Amino acid sequence: MPHSPPTAAPRQPAVYRSGDVREAVLNARRAGQRVGLVPTMGSLHEGHLSLLRAARDECDLVIASIFVNPTQFGPQEDFLAYPRNFDGDLALLATTGCNMVFAPTEETMYGPNHSTFVEVGPVGQVLEGEFRPTHFRGVATVVLKLFELVPADVAYFGRKDYQQTIVLRRMIEDLNLPFKMRVCPTLREPDGLAMSSRNVYLSPHERRRALALFRSLRLAEQLARDGERQVQTIRQKMEREIAETGGIDLQYVAFVADGTVSPVEQIEGPTTVALAAKVGTTRLIDNLLIQPLTPNR
Ligand code: PAF
Repeated sequence: MPHSPPTAAPRQPAVYRSGDVREAVLNARRAGQRVGLVPTMGSLHEGHLSLLRAARDECDLVIASIFVNPTQFGPQEDFLAYPRNFDGDLALLATTGCNMVFAPTEETMYGPNHSTFVEVGPVGQVLEGEFRPTHFRGVATVVLKLFELVPADVAYFGRKDYQQTIVLRRMIEDLNLPFKMRVCPTLREPDGLAMSSRNVYLSPHERRRALALFRSLRLAEQLARDGERQVQTIRQKMEREIAETGGIDLQYVAFVADGTVSPVEQIEGPTTVALAAKVGTTRLIDNLLIQPLTPNR
């Protein structure tokens, strides 16, 4: 009877739970390997996997971290409810060729007397910072700690968390951290919803409503392409699109010069439109880079 050749099972990554991961990473670097780190909070989806694949393409050794970081959640936020699926994550990581997983215990990251935080300054105070005042200090602190424990060459982040990438780039520069940072594109569901671990919170009805967010970003892009330069006009049309859908509590729509969090009033160059909204009890963020058709002279 003909039989098909055995297919190789994906190789399980080695799991580290404590600071001894550092020695393993340093050994790889001493052996001349380029190491890529993909920091995550687990509950992995295609967006995360695209970061891992980018790391796989560019590095000899790929390490994912999985840690739901308590210090980046506000007191009323979803730290306890945040989806956790370690076994599912490991199976997905194996399919990407990821070599190591750093999944520290909470004690490894935050000892009982932990009291030192990274102060991120103005880049963390606007947009998300207005609604989540302690968020970026928690993100920067945990990422700095991950960088210490996993001294990789390159770290990979998604553009979906636009402001996070700005804050972390600032931190890398300000603190002279020997890390390169890669920012990879946002991945979307076929209907346009930006992939997020929090999408599982949405009921089918809320999920349909949430599509208005990306629709409004596409509207901004189209208006800019058609020659509209006034941010105020574009913002009003986006807000109308979202209001007409109903059931969405829009927190902000911001137009910033791409690569910064500085607001613009006119679309004159590459501009990122970033927004945040609550759909039911789920808070979602999204953003899109838009360009005017012809640059202003
Ligand atoms: O983007 C995330 O998932 C988190 O903010 C990060 C960078 C892993 C820090 O906890």
